[in-house]
Amino acid sequence: MSGIILCRSKYGASAKYAEWISEETGFKVVDTKNADIKEVAKYDTVIIGGGVYASSIGGIAFLKKNYAALKGKQIIVYSCGAAPYDDEILEIVRNKNLKGELADIPCFYFQGMWDLEGMNFTDKAMCKMYVKMLDKKDPSTIKAWEKPFLEAKDKKCDWTDKKYLEPLFAELRKGEKS
Ligand SMILES: Cc1cc2nc3c(=O)[nH]c(=O)nc-3n(C[C@H](O)[C@H](O)[C@H](O)COP(=O)(O)O)c2cc1C
Repeated sequence: MSGIILCRSKYGASAKYAEWISEETGFKVVDTKNADIKEVAKYDTVIIGGGVYASSIGGIAFLKKNYAALKGKQIIVYSCGAAPYDDEILEIVRNKNLKGELADIPCFYFQGMWDLEGMNFTDKAMCKMYVKMLDKKDPSTIKAWEKPFLEAKDKKCDWTDKKYLEPLFAELRKGEKS
């Protein structure tokens, strides 16, 4: 079974997961922004992953644009955000990014990193506003997956963990059998 990993990572977390997947599978990692569909279409398995930015998965446009050329292959999507895993988070990300004919593609969510100081100007401003908005909320209405944003604030956090990849590896093994 041949495979490739496409990844779009601004701050390193999804790239770290891509490297871990690569170590396990031997698949090469390509930055989605440099991916060529003619090359990608040569593989049996295509894993597309990226950071979550305002619920959108980085690089997901590549899948939307090129789905016709990838139909019939084993396609797996993973996303990586600062919020800890929660079924609600996965549903938000899935509904925003995998609509229509993409809705049945297996999609995973892993917790990533948070570093306000390391963000570019626009991202930092946006994330600061988000934390401020959470800060003003009635604490009883704050969801479990929103709490880490408040706790992290200016602190640099890395929640990445290889163990989160187990369900993705299990999904990959289904492709080996077919
Ligand atoms: C502009 C911006 C928007 C973000 N929006 C979300 C979000 O909607 N949900 C979330 O869980 N994390 C969000 N984050 C946090 C990132 O998903 C997190 O830092 C992740 O590690 C990014 O992936 P990367 O490290 O591969 O770039 C956001 C970060 C930035 C900079």
